[in-house]
Amino acid sequence: MTELPASASGPSTVPTSSQEEIRLQLRSWPEVEHYLQSCRGVIVPLGSTEQHGPTGAIGTDALTAEAVALEVGRRTGVLVTPAQAFGMAEHHLGFAGTVSLQPSTLLAVLHDVVLSLARHGFERIYVINGHGGNIATTRAAFAQAYGTAASRGLPGADRLRCRLANWFTASSVTQEARSLYGEREGHHATPSEIALTLHLEPSLASKQRPLPEAAPAGPIHGPDDFRRRHPDGRMGSDPFLAQPAHGARFLELAAAALAEDLRQFLAEAEPAA
Ligand code: NI
Repeated sequence: MTELPASASGPSTVPTSSQEEIRLQLRSWPEVEHYLQSCRGVIVPLGSTEQHGPTGAIGTDALTAEAVALEVGRRTGVLVTPAQAFGMAEHHLGFAGTVSLQPSTLLAVLHDVVLSLARHGFERIYVINGHGGNIATTRAAFAQAYGTAASRGLPGADRLRCRLANWFTASSVTQEARSLYGEREGHHATPSEIALTLHLEPSLASKQRPLPEAAPAGPIHGPDDFRRRHPDGRMGSDPFLAQPAHGARFLELAAAALAEDLRQFLAEAEPAA
């Protein structure tokens, strides 16, 4: 992106080479207006604040989603909003430290985020998600947002597009996880996501220790049932296999896959006027 004229941006204009330029939090409103003249895309990192087994960080899903989002932003030049760090984690509430939004609350939050962005002219909302429990609600929020944008008569409502990208289901990521960990990747507190947190936050390595075999994945109901089925919080995973170097590799694979997906999303033809 080019810099704004000094009269519009003031003396604190962020250099265009700054990697942090893609963080919405560090931009001024005239800079965002200027950005919108050349790009209508924006990335929204979506995580969760929930238990990740006896050795994993509570913030795993938010840390990973934000890291992937920032890396995708750096590669594409697309702005990244602050992370939505609270997600739908009702079934993890049996474990200390979990903070959950009810599905209806998360739906309302995402709906309002999309509508706020759409009001300014953003037309491609790209949600980078780190938590499987958010998927159904996020899709519902998109459906609700389309309806509201139309009923409010927002200019550009017809061009508004939202896309959900789960970094952990990118095929390159799942293939790498399978090759590194096989069946011990499991379904929650997985070594792949834990590896990414070890890469991002080296202090987390001190929590790593061998664990007994995890309870297998099963149906998900309420928090008490979940804790009975999965006493230490894991679902079939062995996070002790995680290594920081694996995490760097997962970040690279996820960012490459999602950056390409985002470029295609931004290039999608708009409907005929
Ligand atoms: Ni997770």
